[in-house]
Amino acid sequence: MKEKLTALIAEVEQFTAQKPEQVEEFRIKILGSKGILKDLFADFKNVPNEEKKEVGQLINQVKENAQAKIDALKAVFENAVNSTETIDLTKPAYPNEVGSRHPISLVKNEIIEIFSRIGFTVSEGPEIEDDWHNFSALNFPPEHPARDMQDTFFVESANGEMALRTHTSSVQVRIMENQKPPIRTLSPGRVYRNEAISARAHCFFHQIEGLYIAENVSFADLKQTLLYFAKEMFGEQTEIRLRPSYFPFTEPSAEVDVSCSVCNSKGCNVCKYSGFLEILGCGMVDPNVLENCGIDSKKYSGFAFGMGVERIAMLKYKINDLRLYSEGDVRFLNQFKGAL
Ligand code: PHE
Repeated sequence: MKEKLTALIAEVEQFTAQKPEQVEEFRIKILGSKGILKDLFADFKNVPNEEKKEVGQLINQVKENAQAKIDALKAVFENAVNSTETIDLTKPAYPNEVGSRHPISLVKNEIIEIFSRIGFTVSEGPEIEDDWHNFSALNFPPEHPARDMQDTFFVESANGEMALRTHTSSVQVRIMENQKPPIRTLSPGRVYRNEAISARAHCFFHQIEGLYIAENVSFADLKQTLLYFAKEMFGEQTEIRLRPSYFPFTEPSAEVDVSCSVCNSKGCNVCKYSGFLEILGCGMVDPNVLENCGIDSKKYSGFAFGMGVERIAMLKYKINDLRLYSEGDVRFLNQFKGAL
């Protein structure tokens, strides 16, 4: 029995295989339910007691060595399969998808770039505002009907009632309170209004407001600044048109239209056959607002303007539904790949 076992251990030791099937045959032969080991265990009861210990150890050794050999050979065949798969150098590489900038960011950056060329800086402020910065400092007295122009979302907070800012004019108040003229700054940011969501209205959108305060700033300066912007943004042939309007914080106030670049002002469905498109509101900062913010209105004057970034992006990229901006549909977003 001992010789038989030693011979078996040598056989296990020498065994090698060319194919996985040979490993399986070997396993059945040695360890299988009708295998050699099974017979050995059956014969074990006939081994004289004084030899049982030694023979038992040899049987266990056969079992362990055979199992170790099988595991090692299996691993070799599995690795061989995997390695032929992973080193297929002819396989095309996975596409490395890079994202694209959102059209709102593209247009926002372009507007900031245009105004920074004539000395405007960028300023930011909180989206949750108090009544003073969103309304009162801007000449909206309490109960004034002009507050209804901006359908406001109010929020309760530890500091009392706050509002989601309805415009970034609130940032301009903060700048005027904290800086001395001359001031020349742009306030880009997200604003909120309680509107039913449709193709033409949303409960949040993005504004860029501009503010220029210095000595002797006139309405002519405002008009020239906006004409410069319109030409840079929509092309040299662009014309602007100012219509009288009303805002509590500017006097006089105007709404600004640009000539329709889609039809060259001939009339089309984008400009509703008027040849012009409204893009922003503007005016001379009301002296009350300057005084509210601690600026001497006898010495300084200024202008302000505000525009919706979504609207400018709609005109620039001919987008016909505001909801596309916030739905995150990659088919829409992928169209802006490569734009900077
Ligand atoms: N704050 C105004 C709005 O949101 C826009 C505006 C800004 C108008 C500055 C005039 C001057 O409607």
